[in-house]
Amino acid sequence: MKAIILAGGNGTRLYPVTIPINKHFLPIYNKPMIYYPLSLIMLLGMKDVIFIVNPGDLTDFRKLFGDGSHLGMNIHYRIQEEPNGLAEGLVLAEDFVSENGICYMLGDNIFFGHDLVRHMADAKIEIEKRGGAYVFGYYVKDPERFGVVEFDDNGNVLSLEEKPKRPKSNYAVVGMYFFDNKAVQIAKKVKPSVRGELEITSVIEEYLKQDKLKVKLLGRGFAWFDAGTHDSFLEAGEFVATIENKTGLMIGCIEEIAYRNGWIDREQLKRLATSLQKTQYGRYLLELVE
Ligand code: DAU
Repeated sequence: MKAIILAGGNGTRLYPVTIPINKHFLPIYNKPMIYYPLSLIMLLGMKDVIFIVNPGDLTDFRKLFGDGSHLGMNIHYRIQEEPNGLAEGLVLAEDFVSENGICYMLGDNIFFGHDLVRHMADAKIEIEKRGGAYVFGYYVKDPERFGVVEFDDNGNVLSLEEKPKRPKSNYAVVGMYFFDNKAVQIAKKVKPSVRGELEITSVIEEYLKQDKLKVKLLGRGFAWFDAGTHDSFLEAGEFVATIENKTGLMIGCIEEIAYRNGWIDREQLKRLATSLQKTQYGRYLLELVE
């Protein structure tokens, strides 16, 4: 399975900060926001990634990741001319979606928790074996900000709604989705919502209609941030700083993961560390080398 990471959009909820800069380059503590979703893809063992980007941001994305070979990866880019909505990424990357489905990640979502990657791997295996869609729900106090999933008393999914004024539950659908390859054709049929966007929730709803949707709940042991607002951006940064400073271990360090995955050797890690000069980040990588 390959992965698509959505990194376009205007980031209007972070204005004025994001008027001159794409939000995915902003630092969540000590590294760009976009490292966090990319690192999860890497932890899942996926080497093939395509970023959906705005036309004006392609050069900067290339500057940051190039073709991914320095990490032992294959990184591609696809331009989204206008931020028409999350479902459009599936259509734009149609030729990239393979037979065994796709992992679809939002570039501004940050996750942390024990066994998170195992949960993701379960979703990946389920889609590769049986198809359908596999998404995750997370209990929040402000569900009206998100896609919301409603359950009956037996835990069966009843409905999905994008940013409802009166949410039917407190369970937000987080920005990490696993789809079979039918998602592309489903996305092609999605019509703009009342807010004028091609919603990913509409794609998931279609799987629900076909009885091919699985929703797994992430419990209290997980942290999830949609870093797209000033408050959640700050919270995510403080969270990462707290964990990293307590443990001395980094969250979302893509060079470390590439090394531990065996995708790059010690010499390459040393080169990457040295290029980061005397930052805490560079020193962390050098310690791994040593
Ligand atoms: O964070 C989870 C939520 O993300 C879900 O619960 C919602 O169902 C889903 O619609 C989405 O809602 P947001 O309003 O938070 O989406 P946002 O506009 O912030 O975009 C999410 C990511 O996708 C962000 O990294 C920017 C990128 N993006 C966005 C749009 C609209 C694109 O790449 N292209 C786009 O056209």
